[in-house]
Amino acid sequence: MNLVVVSNRVSRGKANEPMTGGLAAALLPVVEKSGAIWVGSSGRVRDGAQKEPFAEIEALGEGALAMLDLPAAHYGGYYEGFANSALWPALHSRTDLIRASQEDYLSYREVNAFMARALLRFQKPDTAFWIQDYHFLALGAELRDLGVVQPIGFFLHTPWPARAVFGGVPHHRELVEAMLAYDLIGFQTEDDCENFLSYVRSDLGLAARDGVVTSRHGSSRVAVFPIGIDPEKFAQQAAKAVSHPDVSRLRRSLNGEKLAIGVDRLDYSKGLPNRINAFDRMWTLQPGLARAVTLLQIATPSRGAIEAYGNLQNDLAKQVSDVNGRHGEVDWTPIRYLNKGFSQTVLAGLYRTAQVGVVTPLHDGMNLVAKEYVAAQNPADPGVLVLSKFAGAANELETALIVNPHDIDGMARTIAMALSMPLNERKLRWEAMMKKLRGGTIQQWFADFVDALQETQADRDSGEPLIADPVIWPPQPANLNARYH
Ligand code: F6P
Repeated sequence: MNLVVVSNRVSRGKANEPMTGGLAAALLPVVEKSGAIWVGSSGRVRDGAQKEPFAEIEALGEGALAMLDLPAAHYGGYYEGFANSALWPALHSRTDLIRASQEDYLSYREVNAFMARALLRFQKPDTAFWIQDYHFLALGAELRDLGVVQPIGFFLHTPWPARAVFGGVPHHRELVEAMLAYDLIGFQTEDDCENFLSYVRSDLGLAARDGVVTSRHGSSRVAVFPIGIDPEKFAQQAAKAVSHPDVSRLRRSLNGEKLAIGVDRLDYSKGLPNRINAFDRMWTLQPGLARAVTLLQIATPSRGAIEAYGNLQNDLAKQVSDVNGRHGEVDWTPIRYLNKGFSQTVLAGLYRTAQVGVVTPLHDGMNLVAKEYVAAQNPADPGVLVLSKFAGAANELETALIVNPHDIDGMARTIAMALSMPLNERKLRWEAMMKKLRGGTIQQWFADFVDALQETQADRDSGEPLIADPVIWPPQPANLNARYH
């Protein structure tokens, strides 16, 4: 089988590339080894990209990385607009933050259609397409529209919200209907899967039995594939990284105090204000913990052109400065707050140095930082993970200290508990989490999804029609408004 993997963001596999968990970092090691072609955005836009969309095609491990310049006229409406100002907030249950115009929707659809046309270059009889994430909900339907009959799978890295919440997205029905052109739809957790199926039954009135939805496209299998990491590799990387100059400098700068670490994209779904409030509360309620622990919070700027992100960045800067002003001493800064990205190597070393990892999102598909923090620990003296119950990772890492990120006092107490946890308990909790990580690696995730996608091909060969009806949308890009009502 010839696999073509598609995502908006790709990774070029450069050692010092800044990373904060996420899809691109997770996919890199497995895609490299699989021999797949990985297609994504080059990060640049161009007018006239329609003629020759591929800016670069380069070798990547056993396969290739193909990067496209996306159409300049539609990029803003697609990325900052519909993908990140309508879908992202809705998928993270923040319908109050939905801001998207009809033009944004048209641009989103246009970029999906553009990507579909570009992908034809890699289509062979034995090709299977695996589309990643919310940027490309409609890409499968666009490919079908162009006559592609090969298996097409989709995996969502974010949560899928309660059915009424997704109903807040403009054109939600059209989008989910388009998603049903995928043969296989993968989610991170059972809850996501259930929410999606409930939407499909209630809002589209379709039959969904045993995880198979029957629509006018044929049948789509809906299943859970929790994404993992390579824990052994990450552990080795962390053990080596403790001697990295940045990590050594951090260690030397700690005057005997313990270190708690948070590493997140600067995003409202990550619950950063609540986390800062919890530390504030902890230092207020337990003044003895002043100087005993410092929080290193890395908040990598993200999607800065979107108002909600700019506001969050300003608010957080003020909040951190207020907490530091109230609790700090001439020789102690309670929160070290950094707005930049770090390479995976440095992050691995930082995780290993921290006695507590705080991963407290309000909503998160999986959160690979949680898994990386665990894998990075020294087995002889592991740190403690404080984990939100709203991160997908909480379903697996049950022996973390699980918190409700809305309960500030509860979080404050739990962080204090983590700081004083005896070695024996830390080891028991950590070993149980490592076992989970070893049982669900990124390699296994990749193989399970690809196997399941191939099975859809077998169903197809056995005569089950996957495309029951003609395509939904006319293939001509002209007259967009008429095309997507
Ligand atoms: O959570 C889904 C996800 O694709 C992550 O993998 C990634 O961190 C983020 O969303 C994408 O962010 P960006 O807009 O920076 O590509």
